[in-house]
Amino acid sequence: MPEVGGSKGLTVPGDPFLSTVDRVCAWLGSAPEKVDALSGAERSRVLGEVADINAAAASGDDGALYAQQYLLDRIYQLYTKIPQGQTAEGSVVVYEIARLLETATAAAQDALIEPGLIEEAPTEPREYLTWLKNTARNHRVYKHPYYHDFIRNAASHDDLRNYVMQESVVDGRFDDLLAMMQVGTAGAAKMEIAANFWDEMGNGDHAQVHTHLFNKIYEVFEISEDELSRSLTATSLLNGNLAVMLCRQRALYAEAVGFLGMTEWMAPDRFVQVVHAWERLGLPEVGITYHKLHITIDSQHAQGWFHNVVLPAAESADMRRAIARGILWRLNSSAAYLDERIPSVAA
Ligand SMILES: [Fe+2]
Ligand SMILES: [Fe+2]
Repeated sequence: MPEVGGSKGLTVPGDPFLSTVDRVCAWLGSAPEKVDALSGAERSRVLGEVADINAAAASGDDGALYAQQYLLDRIYQLYTKIPQGQTAEGSVVVYEIARLLETATAAAQDALIEPGLIEEAPTEPREYLTWLKNTARNHRVYKHPYYHDFIRNAASHDDLRNYVMQESVVDGRFDDLLAMMQVGTAGAAKMEIAANFWDEMGNGDHAQVHTHLFNKIYEVFEISEDELSRSLTATSLLNGNLAVMLCRQRALYAEAVGFLGMTEWMAPDRFVQVVHAWERLGLPEVGITYHKLHITIDSQHAQGWFHNVVLPAAESADMRRAIARGILWRLNSSAAYLDERIPSVAA
């Protein structure tokens, strides 16, 4: 058993991917100088192991995909959570590992985009926006049977419980994603992000803060922090990591516009199905406020987003390409996530 330090101890005998993850996770609780003092040989060995995880994930190995996304999520926590103690934030080695994971994750998403699709997009901003919406409507994720059939008509108490855990990676921190993506913006886009953020803050009413309302669901289902972090699947982690990657990196701002805009746009129809399931199961009202609220508010958010953020940006060819790329990442990764949910729950 390798040293696991502050990690979750993922190691299982004979799984080299998880043993690499465990070792790196143990470093994340050390000072950056300590991690960067590793010998050149040790550093090269670990970078090589991370490259192996990426190669296996690219060839369809589910265990490797889990290791890849779990590790990226753990590294992103350095930038998205206030630490309780020492962390390796700032470590050059950890940054190198994150870059390898991010590059592989981005390449996998790009490979899922149908060749030539983005190039078909109209150049006139309003036509472009219509094209984006039609692309989403024609995607198999739109009206996916997971929501429209399974959640609506068949999901049990435990299925819904699992559903909300998997949703935590985006819904549970939408405010922070907006805050990260806002940096460097100006004018109508900054104002739209700010207005959206203020809604996330319950317009100043603590009891209406969206993450607070979302956390009420955990109370209904008695879900602990620890269970949450252990239960996330590879595709859930992937969805959360894509959101953080796009919102954090300024060079990927336009992709974040597409990714978050599509998230807002798809939410109302999905949440109608969740509310239906909640009522069918007779679950406590307090847990469904978040979803009920978002059926209305996210259609307004999507409209404002498309009008004030997407349309002005769509004057530029580079922005159009990048926004479409972010939208397709969202559609494809959401589809992979919903596909993954169906067999496990239908079994
Ligand atoms: Fe919200
Ligand atoms: Fe929203």
